[in-house]
Parts: sequence; structure tokens; C-alpha cells
Amino acid sequence: MRTQIGIIGAGPAGMFLALLLRWLGIECMVIEKHDREYVQGRVRAGVLEQSTVELMRSLGVGDRAAREGLVHRGTNLAIDGKLFHVDFAELTGGKTVTVYGQQEVMRDLYDAAAKRDLAIFWNAEDVSLSRLDSDRPAIEFRRGDAAERIDCDYIVGCDGFHGISRRSIPSTVLKVFERVYAFGWLGVLAEVPPANHELVYANHERGFALASMRSAERSRYYIQCAHDEDPARWPDERFWDELCLRLGPEVGAKVTRGPSFEKSVAPLRSFVSEPMRWGRLFLAGDAAHIVPPTGAKGVNLAVADGRILSAAFAQYYKQGSSQGIDNYSRRALARVWKAERFSWWFTSITHRFPDMDGFARRLQIAELDYLQASRAAQLVLAENYVGLPLEVA
Ligand code: FAD
Ligand code: PHB
Repeated sequence: MRTQIGIIGAGPAGMFLALLLRWLGIECMVIEKHDREYVQGRVRAGVLEQSTVELMRSLGVGDRAAREGLVHRGTNLAIDGKLFHVDFAELTGGKTVTVYGQQEVMRDLYDAAAKRDLAIFWNAEDVSLSRLDSDRPAIEFRRGDAAERIDCDYIVGCDGFHGISRRSIPSTVLKVFERVYAFGWLGVLAEVPPANHELVYANHERGFALASMRSAERSRYYIQCAHDEDPARWPDERFWDELCLRLGPEVGAKVTRGPSFEKSVAPLRSFVSEPMRWGRLFLAGDAAHIVPPTGAKGVNLAVADGRILSAAFAQYYKQGSSQGIDNYSRRALARVWKAERFSWWFTSITHRFPDMDGFARRLQIAELDYLQASRAAQLVLAENYVGLPLEVA
């Protein structure tokens, strides 16, 4: 087989990129290790930046997000139980975010891909990349007993943190920057109305908590826990008791309890690998970078990579210029590092760190006081949360 762009991984990075390329009239094929049900079933991100929602609309996949997504004009901090509101729309000249789960996004992208005859090879086994430093890179994989090979102009590794693409770059070239946090988030989904109409990020002496949602009937809650915590140690009643304590009396009183139907622990990590291109291989999304979920940036960053890269490929195929391709790594990393900074900072002011000494805790209190007192500080939070402007070319 032969295509222009071979894409490894059918998560948000791979699928947004594939639909963008299709829209630009550039050929691509997507190779995915799992089946559609598995990828679509993973409970992950919940908040989309306005530009992500607008892109979904431009790509013709935004109808359901426009109908069913919950538009949030701001967010809340609960600091030792005391609520503080940050008004994104007022601070940023009308920008908002939309609560629309990653599972719903993926369903919309896969439905559109099927209608547009976009080639996705599900259940691909033993995927490997070859000749990345030549002008004919190839993807090889197995489907059942059949060995397949796709010759490409370029390959984009959208195969997440544990994928093979990043590992195909020689270790002499790749630089890795990383912070692994000593804690994780224990997340719960329950078919109960949310405690609050907007999100609540709580900093409490017992640890961080987050009240989020998927719809007016479905709540998503998290509490900070040990990075290797066993969810089995958290029967529903224990989880609800702890959550309500950390959210504080005002929000805690509005939490509706009910049976959870998903409970899992996600470790927190900040990670960037540089460069995001080697030879004819590009990296996009979690394959190149991870942020702690505190700023809800993961999916939005994956989408931004796809936008920068698809514009670069369009410049290459339509104008014969490789300038965009050559600038991709630098341009994407400049945005990635700003999201890394924001996600790290938002994590640092909302969580209790096991090794926090008196100095660190007093700095955290000063940050939170400053945020509540200063419109400038609130604007910094707001403009990062709704998403920094994207320069594609
Ligand atoms: P992925 O979603 O990881 O997709 C990669 C795809 O590549 C997968 O489908 C995988 O099966 C496939 N793949 C892997 N290896 C191969 C291979 N060898 N060959 C072919 N295919 C392969 N972000 C938020 O903003 N908010 C959150 O609350 C949040 N919670 C999260 C919870 C967890 C447990 C995790 C892991 C992530 C969470 N994230 C969250 C981050 C967000 O989900 C990711 O940033 C987003 O999914 C990145 O998309 P991606 O396409 O780059 O990677
Ligand atoms: C979620 O709803 O899953 C969610 C929302 C906001 C975050 C992280 C996760 O910062």
C-alpha cells in the first residue's frame, strides 16, 4: 500500500490530524493497535477549549458537541472550603470552555471518518517503522496472519505515551524533560447530577479534589491519592465522604451520592521529548508530551499539534515549501512548554505535596491570596485555561 501521510494511533491526535488532512485533500492512512470500542471506551478528558470546539465545527463533526456540550464561562477554586469564582468570559473578552467528554469526541470523529471512507486499520499488531531517515519511510504491521506494509511520504506518531514512535528516534537525538509527581488522581463516574454548574478545583488540607461532570445527569469527581493507590480500597461511601470533606461544606452539601460505574487511578506526570521531528517522522500529542490533568490541556494540545502539522503539510503539498515542516517542532514545542508551565503551576497551587515544607506551603498560600486579590493574576489563569492563541504558519 502507499499513502502520503501514515498516522500511527487513532486517539485524539491521530484522528483530528486525519480529518484535517482529509479536509485539505491530503491522503492519509491510520494504523491503530486496538479496536474502536476499546479506544472510544477510555474515560479521559472532559474539557475542550473554544478553539477545539470551533475546529470540530469547521471539520463538520461539531453538531453534537454544540447541542450536548456544556458551555462554561468560568471555574471555581475551593480554598479550604471557601469558594472563589474566576470568570473566564469577563476576563478574556467572551472566551469560554466546553465540557464534552473525550469518549463523545472520539465517537464523533470515528463516525465522520467512516462516512468519509478514511482508512483506519484497527487491531494492527507488531507495528514498526522503518527507513525514517530516507525519503520513503514505511510502516509495517500484521493483521491476523497477513503482513502489511505502507510506504509513505511522511509518518506521524500519534500513538500516545507508551507507543513505539518516540522510541524509534535514536536516543542520541532525543532529549527528555520530566517531572513525576508523588501522587495521582482517583477518578469516579456516577449517574448523578453534578454538585455545581461549573467545575470546582479544591485545595484542602487532606489533598486536592475536583468536581467535574459529563452532562446534567452524569458527574465526574476526582480526589488526590497516592500514585499507586488501589481503587479497591475506596468503596463508594469512603470516596463520597472524602470528596465532600475536601470540597468543603458549601459544595459538599450539594454532592448527590450514587453508585459509581468507573473508578480508576491516573498517575500525574509532566513530560516533554524534543525534538518533535526526526527525519520523516513527526510526533504529535501524548507521544511527545504529557501534562498533569489539572489544566485540562491534554486533548487540546494534541489538537493544536494536528493543526500546526496539517498546515505544514498543506504548505508542502500545495506550495512546494518545506518551511512549515521544518518549523513544526520548534513551533509546536513553544506552545507545548506554555501548556506544561500552566499545568504544572495549576497543579502546584491546588495540591498538597507530601514533601511540602513550611516555606513551600506559605508560598502556596501567597499564590492563592494573590490570585483572589489580583485581576491580573486571574487573567493569567483564565487566558491559559481557555487556551492560548494558536499560530499555525
Ligand atoms: P492517546 O489518547 O493515548 O492515543 C494514542 C493511540 O495510539 C491509542 O488509541 C493507542 O491504542 C494507539 N497506539 C499505541 N501504541 C500503538 C502502536 N504501537 N501502534 C498503533 N497504535 C498504537 N486529559 C485531559 O485534558 N483531562 C483529563 O482528565 C485527562 N485524563 C486522563 C486520564 C488518563 C488515565 C490518561 C492516560 C490521560 C488523560 N488525559 C486527560 C490526557 C488525554 O486523555 C490525552 O492527552 C489524550 O488522549 C492524548 O491523545 P493522543 O491521541 O495523543 O494519545
Ligand atoms: C474531567 O472532567 O475529567 C476533567 C476536568 C477538568 C480537568 C481534568 C479533568 O482539569
